[in-house]
Amino acid sequence: MSDKLKLAVIIGTTREGRWGPVPAKWIAEIAAQHGEFEVDLIDLLDADLPQHLTEQDMWATEGDPSAQVAALSERLHRADAFVVVTGEYNMSIPAALKHAIDYYMNEWAAKPVALVTYGGKITGGQHAAQHLRQVFPELRTLTIRNSIAFPRFYQHFNENGEFTKFADEEPAAKNMLDELGWWGRALSEAREATPMPAPF
Ligand SMILES: Cc1cc2nc3c(=O)[nH]c(=O)nc-3n(C[C@H](O)[C@H](O)[C@H](O)COP(=O)(O)O)c2cc1C
Repeated sequence: MSDKLKLAVIIGTTREGRWGPVPAKWIAEIAAQHGEFEVDLIDLLDADLPQHLTEQDMWATEGDPSAQVAALSERLHRADAFVVVTGEYNMSIPAALKHAIDYYMNEWAAKPVALVTYGGKITGGQHAAQHLRQVFPELRTLTIRNSIAFPRFYQHFNENGEFTKFADEEPAAKNMLDELGWWGRALSEAREATPMPAPF
């Protein structure tokens, strides 16, 4: 059995024409080369969760969820750590990402999450990141210190359509993944030693 940490990289935007898969594939590739992680790239568009929370689906591990909800539950459950990649929508996170977070409870618990954000404005999605730092503790999930932000991302493409800022952020990506790996391992051992108390 591989002793690598299982890392889920989550593409948090689902709109037509979205930019999200580009930074998500970038960080997923760096994570795959890092040595510490086995990477699962999760696209919330493919996850295709039902539009409305139902009693049957809520907190999937405790109920009898529908196929899509169960499939994403399994992938989140398997993960020891997460990277959430998201654009900023109206000073916050996209509804699709919040919906996916709200659908689950135990899948997120006692695990670390790193944030990669981007936005049209100079802040690089920092408002979205701050909202995630407010939301995730409610799921008993630790948002780690190091993060990546791409401000005004649309200004940084070359004539071949390639994003030119990735190389600048590679050292920060390595720092972020080093920290995520440390927390991932520490919390994985802690979960094994002592089950997380029930939330309610
Ligand atoms: C509905 C909507 C609201 C947005 N609000 C903000 C914002 O508050 N701050 C910002 O920096 N960019 C904002 N933007 C720009 C997005 O961050 C940018 O388009 C980004 O590419 C969105 O991610 P996506 O391409 O993966 O969907 C907004 C875009 C949309 C579609």
